[in-house]
Amino acid sequence: MVEKSKKILITGARGMLGMALSKTLGSLFKASLLDKDDCDITDSAAVKYFFARREFDVIIHCAAYTAVDKAQDEPELAYLVNAQGVKNIFDATEGSNCLFIYLSTDYVFDGAKPAPYTEEDTPRPINVYGQTKLKGEQFARLFKRYLIIRTSWLFGPDGNNFVRTILKKASEKSVLDVVNDQVGSPTYTLHLALAIRKLLETFINKGVPCGVYNITNSGVCSWYTLACRIAALKKLPVEIRPIASEHCFRKAGRPKNSALSGEKFYALTGFRLPRWQEAVEDYLKNL
Ligand SMILES: NC(=O)c1ccc[n+]([C@@H]2O[C@H](COP(=O)([O-])OP(=O)(O)OC[C@H]3O[C@@H](n4cnc5c(N)ncnc54)[C@H](OP(=O)(O)O)[C@@H]3O)[C@@H](O)[C@H]2O)c1
Repeated sequence: MVEKSKKILITGARGMLGMALSKTLGSLFKASLLDKDDCDITDSAAVKYFFARREFDVIIHCAAYTAVDKAQDEPELAYLVNAQGVKNIFDATEGSNCLFIYLSTDYVFDGAKPAPYTEEDTPRPINVYGQTKLKGEQFARLFKRYLIIRTSWLFGPDGNNFVRTILKKASEKSVLDVVNDQVGSPTYTLHLALAIRKLLETFINKGVPCGVYNITNSGVCSWYTLACRIAALKKLPVEIRPIASEHCFRKAGRPKNSALSGEKFYALTGFRLPRWQEAVEDYLKNL
């Protein structure tokens, strides 16, 4: 099998998506894992040293500073990890023919569009996290071969996420107020990892044009609707009340609409991810 001979590096390997990718791709490719203990991507000398001794066909770059609110207080660190980290990897691998896959976010958009964002829409981030991820996208475009995957609202078996938060809060309180005026596409990391595998197989077998690809579970909902779905599936004895964003103080602003259209990915691969409702059900069954 051609995939078996491909050497893949997954950065951010102990993160929520990195873990899902290790499980999904580990048996199919020769996968190596990188986390902060192996190499801090903000340290250009350490990154040079790491890549001087290894070569990869594909780098899937999941390492990131993902604390959206904290980034407002630590913009330099968020920039160093999300943007300079990518530039450091580019510098350390310059001249190689490796495919660089950069994981990006729906938060590169301002949320003003009244329909799902396509890959052609102009990003206009409204918080530091989104700004630094967008800068990371710009550095990713320096690679001779690159794919930028924009995804959103991740949940999965590893790491903290909204689903776990709702389960925990519902065990502590009888009423939960959840924001109802921000919509997006919740995405299960194991489904996303399968879609990335599909993209890689398509890349290897047919070729894939460099550029941006949106990949999320299908369908759109608000955080409130998602919380109601979780409560219904788990039969949680909790009342969930819809509130507006202005009644839920967060340091970082969030786009009101950050739904991403998956049509480009579907046209390329013929693969559509399950609807978000099914994804949540699958996740809760296995939790
Ligand atoms: N989570 C979401 O809802 C979401 C939505 C859209 C897009 N994304 C994007 O998807 C990707 C994966 O997200 P995730 O939720 O899986 O992230 P995550 O769970 O926060 O994992 C990020 C990983 O990056 C590592 N890391 C942080 N700083 C590093 C450094 N300086 N050097 C090397 N490694 C470093 C972290 O290691 P430590 O834990 O040791 O710090 C962690 O293992 C990210 O690019 C993120 O921007 C996420």
